[in-house]
Amino acid sequence: MSADPELLYYCKPGGERPTGHLVEFLGVQAFLADEPACKTLWDLVSTQFRTRGKFLAVWPGVRFVAVHRDADGSADGFLLVNTPVNWQIDYVVVRPDRRGLGIAGVLVIETLNQAHRRDVPYVTLTSRAELRPLYEACGFTAVGDHQPPAPGTTPTGPR
Ligand SMILES: CC(C)(COP(=O)(O)OP(=O)(O)OC[C@H]1O[C@@H](n2cnc3c(N)ncnc32)[C@H](O)[C@@H]1OP(=O)(O)O)[C@@H](O)C(=O)NCCC(=O)NCCS
Repeated sequence: MSADPELLYYCKPGGERPTGHLVEFLGVQAFLADEPACKTLWDLVSTQFRTRGKFLAVWPGVRFVAVHRDADGSADGFLLVNTPVNWQIDYVVVRPDRRGLGIAGVLVIETLNQAHRRDVPYVTLTSRAELRPLYEACGFTAVGDHQPPAPGTTPTGPR
C-alpha cells in the first residue's frame, strides 16, 4: 500500500453522463441478498485494504452499493455510499483481474448520476493522491489534504 498523502474531494452533481457499462445501484438490503457478491466484496476488503476494522465501522451507515458485473454476471467492482445528507463514497474496489477497464470510473459516475437524480447537494470522498486523475476525470475537485484521525478516535479516515 502507498504512503501517498490522502486527498479530500467534493463534487456537486450537475447532470448525468452515460456509464456505458452495466452498473447496478442497489439499496443495501438488495445487495445483502446477493450472497456471492457479498463474499467477493469481503474478499476484496480483506486483501486490498490495510484493515477490516474501518470497513466494519463504516458498514452500518452504508445505504447504497454500486456493483459492476463481468460478462458472466459475477460482481467485479464495488463502491459503498454513506448518506447522512451529502453522500460519502467509501471503498471503491475492483477485482485485481478486472482493473484498467474503466470499472472504477463507471461506478463513480453512476453514483454521481444517482445523486443528481436525488438532488443530493454534494458527494465527497477521500483517496490517496495517486488516484487524483481517476476522481478528477469523474468530476471531483480536490479541496485539500485529509488528516487521518488519531489512533483510538472515530474511524472516519480514508479507506
Ligand atoms: C483503485 C481501483 C479502484 C481502480 O479501479 P479500475 O477499475 O482499475 O480503475 P479505472 O480502470 O476506472 O481507471 C480509470 C483511471 O483512473 C486512474 N487510475 C486507476 N487506477 C490507478 C492507480 N492505481 N494509480 C494511478 N491512477 C489510477 C487512471 O487515470 C485511469 O485511467 P487510464 O486507465 O486511462 O490510465 C483499483 O485499482 C482497486 O480496487 N484498488 C485497490 C483498492 C483501492 O485502493 N481503492 C481506492 C480507494 S479510494
